[in-house]
Amino acid sequence: MAPYKGTVLIAGATGFIGTHLVRFLPHVRVLTRDANAARSTLNKYGLVASEGIAQWAPDNSSLDASVLDGVDAVINLAGVSVADGRWTKARKRSILQSRLDATNTLISALSSTQHRVQSLISASAVGYYGSCGNQFLTEDTEPGTDFLADVCKKWEDAAHPDIADTVRVVTPRIGIVLGPDGGALPKMAFPFKLFVGGKLGNGKHWMPWIHIDDLVGLFNHLLASSISGPVNATAPNPVTNAEFTRQLAGALKRPALFPVPRFMLRLLVGEFTDALFASQRTDATRAVSDGYVFGFPDLKSALHDLY
Ligand SMILES: NC(=O)c1ccc[n+]([C@@H]2O[C@H](COP(=O)([O-])OP(=O)(O)OC[C@H]3O[C@@H](n4cnc5c(N)ncnc54)[C@H](OP(=O)(O)O)[C@@H]3O)[C@@H](O)[C@H]2O)c1
Repeated sequence: MAPYKGTVLIAGATGFIGTHLVRFLPHVRVLTRDANAARSTLNKYGLVASEGIAQWAPDNSSLDASVLDGVDAVINLAGVSVADGRWTKARKRSILQSRLDATNTLISALSSTQHRVQSLISASAVGYYGSCGNQFLTEDTEPGTDFLADVCKKWEDAAHPDIADTVRVVTPRIGIVLGPDGGALPKMAFPFKLFVGGKLGNGKHWMPWIHIDDLVGLFNHLLASSISGPVNATAPNPVTNAEFTRQLAGALKRPALFPVPRFMLRLLVGEFTDALFASQRTDATRAVSDGYVFGFPDLKSALHDLY
């Protein structure tokens, strides 16, 4: 599908997913907390924000609404990383608060501008569902009750208030994004490269993955679509952790000999372990029915492309 031609304001554009979107979309304005740092990050990847770089301070609800002038769509990816480090109380607070601050600040600018923005694609995550064993998870499934589920529910709710009449709001529930240069895959591959890789626990939990090119393709599709509300942003064929481990080891031509016990991970990363062991067998029917065609529908094709 051809790239969306409108101007897109991207908050959190300097991260893993954002930089891939900046590379793909022709008309991007970057919204960042630090314009100089954003410029050097983009430079590092050989990227340019064709519609400029704007600065905001979401923790102070500070954003000049004129940043929306000429903008057709907004993508919101901003938030403290969930995966970096141990979940202390302070870290959990900032994981939630950074997302609420960013989303509330964007919504308030969208509500106050005279300029008509057509759509807001505001990220959410499969963490919305909690851990659900073998159950198929559609967008109608009830949210879970753990920390990440609470974050995702509040994050999605924040994206939806009074603007829904004028701006189309989509909240993609993003799965584990597989890319060569960021996200979870390099971290997952690392122990295999040292010949000490293995499944997590008994490996029975389902992993809702998506190739980074498909995530970018799906965002591009959602920008031009008329769909609104939550959309599972995960490949149509989730696999169990044991299957993922087997295929990753195969792709890296390494053995998968050492299962990682849950208690060991808990010692290392605390409550984040629950997210690593969460079982989410997501259903991609809504994205597919809306016309998105996955380039990498199965894990084998995705890993073959990435390695
Ligand atoms: N990667 C995945 O597998 C995955 C899966 C599910 C959901 N998601 C969600 O998708 C979004 C983007 O993911 P990503 O992997 O690209 O994340 P990322 O690499 O951590 O980038 C997130 C961006 O958010 C901004 N940010 C960081 N701390 C912030 C704060 N305190 N307040 C406001 N903005 C802040 C930063 O941009 P500036 O420094 O330029 O402001 C950063 O570049 C995240 O919200 C993430 O939770 C990702």
